Amino acid sequence: MKKITIAIDGFSSTGKSTLAKQLAKHLGYVYVDTGAMYRAVALFAMQKGYISSSNFDKKALINDIPNIKLHFEFNADLGFAEMYLNDSNVEKEIRTIEVSSFVSKVAEVSDVRAKLVEQQKEMGKNKAIVMDGRDIGTVVFPDAELKIFMTASAETRAQRRFDELEAKGDNVSYEDVLKNVQERDYIDTHRDDSPLVIAEDAIEIDNSYLSREEQFAAVLELVDEIINK
Ligand code: DC
Repeated sequence: MKKITIAIDGFSSTGKSTLAKQLAKHLGYVYVDTGAMYRAVALFAMQKGYISSSNFDKKALINDIPNIKLHFEFNADLGFAEMYLNDSNVEKEIRTIEVSSFVSKVAEVSDVRAKLVEQQKEMGKNKAIVMDGRDIGTVVFPDAELKIFMTASAETRAQRRFDELEAKGDNVSYEDVLKNVQERDYIDTHRDDSPLVIAEDAIEIDNSYLSREEQFAAVLELVDEIINK
């Protein structure tokens, strides 16, 4: 069967990773969450004291980029690959609201993007991959056979994120989560390097009112059309 590259881009908390994981599992493809990579770099910058709520020492982070080693390791119990930063499993730490509040700033740094994009291209060189992020269809894999762009209203996305964080025992308010979602949207769409834009040949899915199952079925139809062409 023809092996393809599937690029899934879109705003934060639109369910990109849920869809990407479902597709990868169904097709036997590798799934790569590129947001996790940017989050791991943000965590690195926090640990080193390069970023805090009052300062961001971009130069120090750029100088230290060669010392950032990222890799994914498949966890069979969870059914997906976990993020490792310098050989430590950081899957939990990168999902906190603190990391979420700094990650967009780190993702604006061109040297960071260049390093991560290079690694992402390498991971996809044999196709059979589902990758999600913000610039996958535009920068990482402009030739991907299938490009999906996911949207949903900021309120819908904030509610989903809030429910997830609350279930994990994080003590956050809905208002803070909504503010974080809106701030990230703004930074992600306004940065100079690789802003979040819809690729010309991407298919847009607004999932504010779609169930996971409906969304998966719709995308699977698109995949089948391409694979069986
Ligand atoms: O998908 P996410 O919310 O985990 O992504 C975290 C941040 O990383 C998000 O604010 C934007 C950034 N990002 C990016 O700039 N490019 C990507 N390919 C993936 C994520």
